Amino acid sequence: MSTGSGRFIVLEGIDGSGTTTQASRLAASLREAGHAVVSTREPSDGPIGVVLRQALKRRLVGLSDRVLALLFAADRLDHLASVVEPALAEGKVVISDRYVLSSMAYQGMRMPLAWVEALNAAARPADLTLYLDVDARTAARRRHGRGGSEELFDADEVQRAVARAYGRVVRKHARSQRVVRVDGRATADEVAKEILATVRTVLQRRGRK
Ligand code: TYD
Repeated sequence: MSTGSGRFIVLEGIDGSGTTTQASRLAASLREAGHAVVSTREPSDGPIGVVLRQALKRRLVGLSDRVLALLFAADRLDHLASVVEPALAEGKVVISDRYVLSSMAYQGMRMPLAWVEALNAAARPADLTLYLDVDARTAARRRHGRGGSEELFDADEVQRAVARAYGRVVRKHARSQRVVRVDGRATADEVAKEILATVRTVLQRRGRK
């Protein structure tokens, strides 16, 4: 562990893979079990994250892929300093909906991966990254089912490319980001159960240290 005594748990996956649902279910289960939990997300709710959400909703246009990659990395460092690290230092469990692998998958598709990795080199690794593995078709069905306006990376062909990009970066960073792959095609209850079992093992490990 590089900071404090808490645990930093991240959920990753393509749009429609269920990261938001599963992050909130995991937080609820851990709270019920008596853990102090901080739920958070990237783009964050800080100043740079707010700008990024505008760009994702196309309310803010004209930012190049290069600038977006820089903003995602800047938001991450701000999020770490203002939310994640303080909570970890207090011994809390921090659950983040998305983190560095999102940048490597999404921004790494459009910009050189080595550059995106370099931008994110200062961001501490996650103690556990749960990768919700879902094929692009299943994820598209879920996205279309939940309605809402289409975001920047929502188009189905983009999501197929994102799924391939995640496959690559998950393999490459499996060890450094402590990635555990979860079959995200099962029902929300089944996925939640598998995630909780994995997280319990990681939290118990802390107890033995
Ligand atoms: P998402 O997590 O689905 O949030 P919401 O439910 O509010 O739409 O959307 C975040 C989008 O941002 C998603 O398409 C992935 C993208 N993203 C990046 O491209 N790079 C990053 O570093 C992060 C954190 C997210």
